[in-house]
Amino acid sequence: MTSQDDGARHAEHGGAFFEAIGVDFSTLERRKDIVNADVLDAWYDPAPGVISTIQAHLPWLIRTSPPTHGEGLRAAIAKARGVQENQLVIGSGSSSLMFLAFPRLIGRASRAVVLDPSYGEYAHLAEKVVGARTRRFKLDPLADFRIDIDALANECKDANLVILVNPNSPNGAYVGRDAIVELLGKLNPSTKLWVDETYIDYAPDGSSAEPLVAEHDNLIVCKSMSKYYGLSGLRIGYLVCKPTLAAQWESLSPPWSVSLIGQVAAVAALDDNAYYKQMTAKTAELRVGLEAELKKLPGVKVFPSITNFLLMRLDKPVAASVCQHAEKQGVFLRNCDSLSDRFQGHYIRTAVKDVEDNQKIIAALRSALEHTS
Ligand SMILES: Cc1ncc(COP(=O)(O)O)c(C=O)c1O
Repeated sequence: MTSQDDGARHAEHGGAFFEAIGVDFSTLERRKDIVNADVLDAWYDPAPGVISTIQAHLPWLIRTSPPTHGEGLRAAIAKARGVQENQLVIGSGSSSLMFLAFPRLIGRASRAVVLDPSYGEYAHLAEKVVGARTRRFKLDPLADFRIDIDALANECKDANLVILVNPNSPNGAYVGRDAIVELLGKLNPSTKLWVDETYIDYAPDGSSAEPLVAEHDNLIVCKSMSKYYGLSGLRIGYLVCKPTLAAQWESLSPPWSVSLIGQVAAVAALDDNAYYKQMTAKTAELRVGLEAELKKLPGVKVFPSITNFLLMRLDKPVAASVCQHAEKQGVFLRNCDSLSDRFQGHYIRTAVKDVEDNQKIIAALRSALEHTS
């Protein structure tokens, strides 16, 4: 988690819920009393095969060195996702790969374009960490923050790096693979396109851009295994990019970058597509139910989403006090102020949870709105 105090060093994220549990881990039981809807972790457990394999070998998994460069995991990703092993860079969560790649993709003289609003780490990384000239491509709230590919391509004519989070966070809008092909066709071939697909598998057609890397040297697809596969705590991610770039970045990656438990869990997860498809369908059902209830709250607009989260606009600029009030009831929501300068206290994002937690979210929001209006 990152607090506002160290915003210069780190991007702001959700995760305040861990303060309520206790970051020294001495009171982990408290997790049962809170709803951590301020982060976008899966509401469901990892596939049964993940849990049974880890349980069967736990002490050994903890004391044993993993395959040095994730050889088995690499093969499993290539097979499951239809890409080549030499197109992959594996790391401890996609975040570690962003920090590996960005300083090598862009420098202070480079131009980067990020969506606004979008996942805050990218603007922070490009602008504050690398120091690149970073422009925001403003998505229109009246168009539900949908991405207009033509307009984005126009904005990116002189860019060195374009970052597209698809589906985008915090709003959950999504463009299909055809739109990515269209964008690649419009961009200058020297412009790198970074597509972050953390939430793509929640899309009904789930049309990942991973296979496009074979034909587009300037495309890098960033894949987190945290959310959809329910593995956030284990830290597993990978990049799909052209083999020469992958080889260069692999040579800069430390050995054993993914823990043995992480490698074993990820391989087992990739092996159970049927389970995760079932969870996607249930997530959609839960999202539709939560959205219908949120829409009944006074002064709240809910944006369309195909993901495991929903963005709301409040009529009044009371996002901070609403979130504080909800926290007192054990419900942690994300005040989105740091995700766009335009938000100004009007936007809150919630993760989609199971039925019981979704009811707690609604109750906490209803009560918070009553107390803050
Ligand atoms: C859009 C997006 N990209 C990347 C990440 C980071 O994921 P990881 O757990 O793989 O580091 C997140 C986490 O919330 C995210 O929302």
